[in-house]
Amino acid sequence: MNESAAFSRFGLFALLIALLLGGCQAAPAGDPPLKGATMGGPFTLTAMDGRRVSDTDFAGKYRLVYFGFTFCPDVCPTDLATIGAGLRRFEESDSERAARVQPLFISVDPARDTPPVIARYVAAFHPRILGLTGSEDEVARVARAHAIFYERQPPATPGGDYLVDHTRIIVLYGPQGEPVAILPHDEGVDAFVRELERWVR
Ligand code: NI
Repeated sequence: MNESAAFSRFGLFALLIALLLGGCQAAPAGDPPLKGATMGGPFTLTAMDGRRVSDTDFAGKYRLVYFGFTFCPDVCPTDLATIGAGLRRFEESDSERAARVQPLFISVDPARDTPPVIARYVAAFHPRILGLTGSEDEVARVARAHAIFYERQPPATPGGDYLVDHTRIIVLYGPQGEPVAILPHDEGVDAFVRELERWVR
């Protein structure tokens, strides 16, 4: 994907979040940064083993949500590696709290990301990442609700492989599906783990 475009979109997104949270700036210290943000909500998608799963299946668990696609040449693998390494670190330091975190990888390329393709892909990063896909409509709805923009790019050659431009953001949702925090994807695993440990209670 086009990284600079993703970054500028992320910038826009961060601004949007800041606006959404305008009334929450004076919230007491210790409140989650995304408290009160309108992101997430109910969803039903197809898991990588073919099962249909809904947000309610994760009740009581924190959800680490990342949208991307398995053909992504660099950004998605980098971020999933951070998520995988960070979660392993958390599991070593506090296995009980880490077990309350369910990592979710939601495909923005359902045409190519079939359940078996996603299963093979996410297994390379962490054994507990659950890959999700769905119909084009389902994915579009869920992405919109989670403030994710994505757009398939024209292939370089007619009929060739295509890329999908998408918002680059790792979001932690809480045990009731409420947005909690955006976790840093570009400050190294240490920074990622620090924020993860900070907000999973
Ligand atoms: Ni990507």
